[in-house]
Amino acid sequence: MRTVRDEELTTAELAELRAFLDAAYDYEFGDEDWRHALGGWHVLGSVDGALVAHAAVIPRTLHSGSRAWRTGYVEAVGVRPDQRGHGHGRTVMLAAADHLRTTYELGALSAGPQNWAFYERLGWLRWTGPTFVEVNGERRRTTEDDGEVFVLPTPATGEFDQTAPLVCEWRSGDAW
Ligand SMILES: CC(C)(COP(=O)(O)OP(=O)(O)OC[C@H]1O[C@@H](n2cnc3c(N)ncnc32)[C@H](O)[C@@H]1OP(=O)(O)O)[C@@H](O)C(=O)NCCC(=O)NCCS
Repeated sequence: MRTVRDEELTTAELAELRAFLDAAYDYEFGDEDWRHALGGWHVLGSVDGALVAHAAVIPRTLHSGSRAWRTGYVEAVGVRPDQRGHGHGRTVMLAAADHLRTTYELGALSAGPQNWAFYERLGWLRWTGPTFVEVNGERRRTTEDDGEVFVLPTPATGEFDQTAPLVCEWRSGDAW
């Protein structure tokens, strides 16, 4: 297991990671998803020198109420299809959580219902309030993402209300 920045990965390692994510997401991992997985840290789990599990942690800012959290946003969580059910997903997510707790004020991610229990077992909390994206200073609802955003409090999170509005900054592709 190692936790590295994008720039510490060689061109060949980045290509291996992209191919790994394509397979992990059943070839539905697009260029926009890849861009969202870059710009931060990668937790890489290997067995016998081959990549079996990955999670990226990307810096973003999330707002709720008067609070703006420096957030580690988890992207591109995946385990090689033939290695699932052996704890590799849990192991990379626990390493990502360690990184989040020491580096950020909040952890966050977006997940479909099929994976909610996976994250809840690891202590992630489902945000039930309405979600928004801020575009040119204006907040726009992201109703399709409501109920699919999870947060992991860190020692720096402070009090929060999971039923309150939660706002992310704009990025190309999916906001959350
Ligand atoms: C989701 C994924 C990362 C899980 O990885 P994994 O290595 O199979 O998971 P683990 O073996 O570490 O499982 C840890 C625990 O979560 C449970 N679990 C794993 N996937 C689960 C799921 N989808 N729903 C509910 N529980 C799940 C396991 O049973 C295990 O439970 P335990 O604590 O009782 O032992 C993997 O299935 C995957 O790569 N899926 C395709 C890509 C994807 O959907 N990524 C997530 C995007 S949000």
